[in-house]
Amino acid sequence: MTKVGIIGCGGISAFHHEGFALAGAEIAHVCDLRKEAAEAVGAQYGAKVSTDYRAVLDDPAVQLVSVCTSSATHREIAIAAMGAGKGVVCEKTLADSPESAADIARAADATGQFCATAYMKRFFPASQRAKELLAGMGQLISVYARSWQPWDMWNAPLDDSLRQHPSWMVRNYGGGALVMAGSHILDLVHWLVGRPAEVVGHLNIREGMDADRQGNAMLWMPDGSIVHYEACGHPYKFVGYERNGWDERLEINTVTGRLDLYTVTWNRPDRNGALLVHMDGETGVTTEYRYPQVNPFHLEMASMLQWFERGETPAPSAWDGYVVDELIAHVTRSSRERQRLAVAYQDRVAAK
Ligand SMILES: NC(=O)c1ccc[n+]([C@@H]2O[C@H](COP(=O)([O-])OP(=O)(O)OC[C@H]3O[C@@H](n4cnc5c(N)ncnc54)[C@H](O)[C@@H]3O)[C@@H](O)[C@H]2O)c1
Repeated sequence: MTKVGIIGCGGISAFHHEGFALAGAEIAHVCDLRKEAAEAVGAQYGAKVSTDYRAVLDDPAVQLVSVCTSSATHREIAIAAMGAGKGVVCEKTLADSPESAADIARAADATGQFCATAYMKRFFPASQRAKELLAGMGQLISVYARSWQPWDMWNAPLDDSLRQHPSWMVRNYGGGALVMAGSHILDLVHWLVGRPAEVVGHLNIREGMDADRQGNAMLWMPDGSIVHYEACGHPYKFVGYERNGWDERLEINTVTGRLDLYTVTWNRPDRNGALLVHMDGETGVTTEYRYPQVNPFHLEMASMLQWFERGETPAPSAWDGYVVDELIAHVTRSSRERQRLAVAYQDRVAAK
């Protein structure tokens, strides 16, 4: 039975330890700077409890660690974990800059350790089906990718926690809508249709805030096909597939037809299954792929555990996490400099 360590016992960590435990791993050691947070999780599993992540890395029983701390700490912890001979599942975003993300990915290459970036939206059955269908759908024409989340950054007064700089968003997550919501979509885009070669970005930053409430981009594939992209914290209560304000959708157009992928509220996947709709461009025949409510985090941790135990490379890998961080940096820089930018990826793999 694989023994897992959890580093960071805040909001996201429950999805990791529950997922690993359901998949048959033992939660052996948990850690948080806040002792009470670590103790609460430790008590659920009878796990060892620490407040210093190095104690988890020094624990010879632990084989695989989940890094569930704020993104700015991922580089230090993930590299130290691999150096200590542990496999790593790191929450997204992999780091708070493409340079730090590339350092993590290079450390994975150098040590040969398992190192995954936890973008769970790939694990919806609807996303997996989209990937399978796209393999037979021919040349890409365009993608419309939207991640609108019901968090009013337009009409609602700006509270003090957002007026302080760095805001909690920047401190914990490394940015605003582009990083928090949009990173998932950038991961789905590069997984489903390939790596963008050029980018134009535009960030809408509300006065008084230190991060964007809306991140927009046009991303060009090497063959000239295009991705239109928007991430936004918005004020509508009833839009989207679930009619609850969660409005995240990818429309993918190829020369043979269209796919529409609708995800569900990130932390309430128990209410609805993600939906995939395929339309055949020639006949108009439209097929809805409906799936039961499944927790993509649980499917993700089950896959991670299986890959780890078999010695296989995970997907999304550390380099996949790096690609998202590189795209975020390019969208941000393009917005600041008002320029279209070519994306120079740092890894060895040629752009897909
Ligand atoms: N996949 C998703 O949809 C999703 C959603 C939310 C958050 N996240 C990611 O999860 C990560 C954590 O976010 P969160 O919302 O759980 O934040 P959080 O603040 O709720 O939890 C982070 C925890 O890590 C602890 N911590 C920080 N530094 C530490 C260190 N050096 N050693 C030990 N513990 C430390 C904090 O005390 C805190 O309890 C971030 O990278 C974030 O981007 C992903």
